[in-house]
Amino acid sequence: MSDSMHSSHVRIFDTTLRDGEQSPGASMTVEQKVVIARQLEKLGVDVIEAGFAASSDGDFESVRRVCKEVKRPRVLSLARSQEGDIERALKAVEHAVNPGIHIFIATSDIHLEHKLRMSREQVLEAAVKAVSYAKKHIDYIEFSAEDASRSAVEFMIQVFKEVIRAGANTINVPDTTGYAIPSEFGALMSNLIERTAGADRVIWSAHCHNDLGLAVANSLAAVHNGARQIECTINGIGERAGNTSLEEVVMALRTRKNYLDLDTNIITEQLYPTSRLVSQVTGIPIPINKPIVGENAFAHEAGIHQDGVLKHKQTYEIMTPESVGISGNRLVMGKHSGRHAFDERLKHLGFNLSKEDMNRAFLRFKELADKKKNVYDEDIEAIVAEEILRVPGQPDCYELLYLSVNSSSDGIPSATVKIRVDGQERMDHASGDGAVDACYKVITKITGSEAQLVRYTVNAITGGADAQGEVSCQIQDGGIRVSGQGSHTDIIMASAAAYINALNKLQGRKQYRQLVEREGP
Ligand code: KIV
Ligand code: ZN
Repeated sequence: MSDSMHSSHVRIFDTTLRDGEQSPGASMTVEQKVVIARQLEKLGVDVIEAGFAASSDGDFESVRRVCKEVKRPRVLSLARSQEGDIERALKAVEHAVNPGIHIFIATSDIHLEHKLRMSREQVLEAAVKAVSYAKKHIDYIEFSAEDASRSAVEFMIQVFKEVIRAGANTINVPDTTGYAIPSEFGALMSNLIERTAGADRVIWSAHCHNDLGLAVANSLAAVHNGARQIECTINGIGERAGNTSLEEVVMALRTRKNYLDLDTNIITEQLYPTSRLVSQVTGIPIPINKPIVGENAFAHEAGIHQDGVLKHKQTYEIMTPESVGISGNRLVMGKHSGRHAFDERLKHLGFNLSKEDMNRAFLRFKELADKKKNVYDEDIEAIVAEEILRVPGQPDCYELLYLSVNSSSDGIPSATVKIRVDGQERMDHASGDGAVDACYKVITKITGSEAQLVRYTVNAITGGADAQGEVSCQIQDGGIRVSGQGSHTDIIMASAAAYINALNKLQGRKQYRQLVEREGP
């Protein structure tokens, strides 16, 4: 066995920016990805998969920018086992301090037959050719056998042996469809490690999806059986039911060190701020009962539990909220707080803003503090998400200028809205089933949008009657799905802001698509 297999260190490979972005509606702009990458570095992840460079110009640019921004973690781009993909990935990571490339090909018969239409011999040849080609240009290569958990073990052993010989440094075993059962996946990992020639020269990695709710359990089984890298995403976002949740797997390793005897480099106090940031940026809410970062994760409701916790915390608490970055004292500022205090608080929350962005955020904070006595961390995050993180590097097409709503228990709700559309002011009104519906109808009328509203959620950011409402909506048009966020002390205003934010994103994506169609990727 290699030293790495005996080591107690488990590498955390974050793929929020690649696999996580594959969640419906979670697409992020380059700027947003850079902000998240900086926070991932602060969190202490070892590897960041920044995108799939060959898949689009946007992804290529994101990988490039992340490579320039972060210094300590290794930064990878995904690539299929094809020369074109590999060249694009190599170019995208060329400025990274620690660059790498992640090459994959499917190994299960079902993928070979129906997706790739290739024989096992052809897959083996393509994998070895890809790794050998990449190795001429870059030192660090991870190789993944897509759909490993449904692949024939003998075939994988053969492929892994050859790609290790060709220069792969890490071998990743994905449970692509979330099909595996923990004891089975653990046994697969130990079988592969034991029987693959050259296994001791590489790091073994697990990449699990959560279709049966077992991604974290499968990842733990893998490291219990010799893997030393876990691939995961913040809040577990990703394709379908998502990926292994970083915060859950890391806290399981930390809390049960007495059993697993493994460590990570993660600064666990950064888990909660990172989780909030990703939720704000993607518009994917955190379920209230989500382990580690959900609103109820540390709330004790039953009297008998409360009594126990008051007497001795450990009666019902296996970890503390502070250890994951949830501070008991959430009250931060009010209308007398100055610019310096605001700046300090932003830094504490993981936002390093430019002077110009900071000024804009400060103005929004002052406006909010005039309406709301206590401004909490969550309120500040919402301001940043809405005012700063949404800027996609191009001017917004729509700007909300005015909104008035009429709603009573026995009348038909109606709304009047004024929007600046490409520099021109337009005003209209409409009625609807409720105040939000009326408001959305006017916005649709003015903008001429044909997008469908596929999701609408509203949350109170903090407690109290003066709490800000946070609205997240998802819209879809012509195969493009985007989400928008808005926050305000008035829920109708927050709803309108979220809708306008989504329409601006949709417009940006459409313009980008037209550009690609005209000029090629
Ligand atoms: O789930 C999967 O198989 C993947 C690979 C590309 C690693 O995401
Ligand atoms: Zn995946």
